[in-house]
Amino acid sequence: MSQDLRIALTKGRLQDKSVELFEAMGLDCSPIKDPGRRLIHKVPNYPLEAVLAKAPDVITYVEHGVCDLGIVGKDTILEHGKSFYEVLDLGFGKCRFALAVKKGSDFYGTYKTRRVASKYPNVTRAFFEKKGMDVDIIKIEGSVELAPILDLADGIVDIVETGVTLRENGLVPIEDVAQVSARLIVNTASMKLHKAQIEDFIGRCEAELAKRREQA
Ligand code: PRP
Repeated sequence: MSQDLRIALTKGRLQDKSVELFEAMGLDCSPIKDPGRRLIHKVPNYPLEAVLAKAPDVITYVEHGVCDLGIVGKDTILEHGKSFYEVLDLGFGKCRFALAVKKGSDFYGTYKTRRVASKYPNVTRAFFEKKGMDVDIIKIEGSVELAPILDLADGIVDIVETGVTLRENGLVPIEDVAQVSARLIVNTASMKLHKAQIEDFIGRCEAELAKRREQA
């Protein structure tokens, strides 16, 4: 194996789960677990270096080929990305996109154009386009649950994991939009240029995922 592969990991929860997976595959992740302020970390016992990045940036780095591989949530893929191979569902980071409204409100019971707030305007647009329904989409950067409470929107499309955030803010999910989990993505050129190395890495991931499925 010649050159190190470079993988972009989504910082935060997915980073911890990715490290767990890599360790189970036999990779020494001590540099990633004790990163300090460094953003690139070499795995000492496998030809791989890891870059820690925000989710949309993982996609940007992989699409541009400065990272061969990436681990990112399907939510970010649905919102931001297309030009790469999505090779594995890693089975962690499970949650869903849902349409949610204020408890007791009838989202579909009016002919007025509905306003929907979301951090994910593309996912929201695609969902309502599929229904042939015209909605006004309002882009929100964080705590989108506020939008219906403040009467800025009739509903929200957002990530639901445990459902606690919705519940504590008097909102209820009324429809699932898409299922979400972490995915392994690969740059299209890297897949050809570093075929053997990438296949080795994917094979190790698959073996560990198969083991987990057997144990479940
Ligand atoms: C997500 C999402 C909800 C919350 C749902 O936000 O936007 O606010 O998690 O989780 P729950 O169903 O378990 O309550 P996140 O914590 O990722 O922060 P963000 O607003 O920075 O995206």
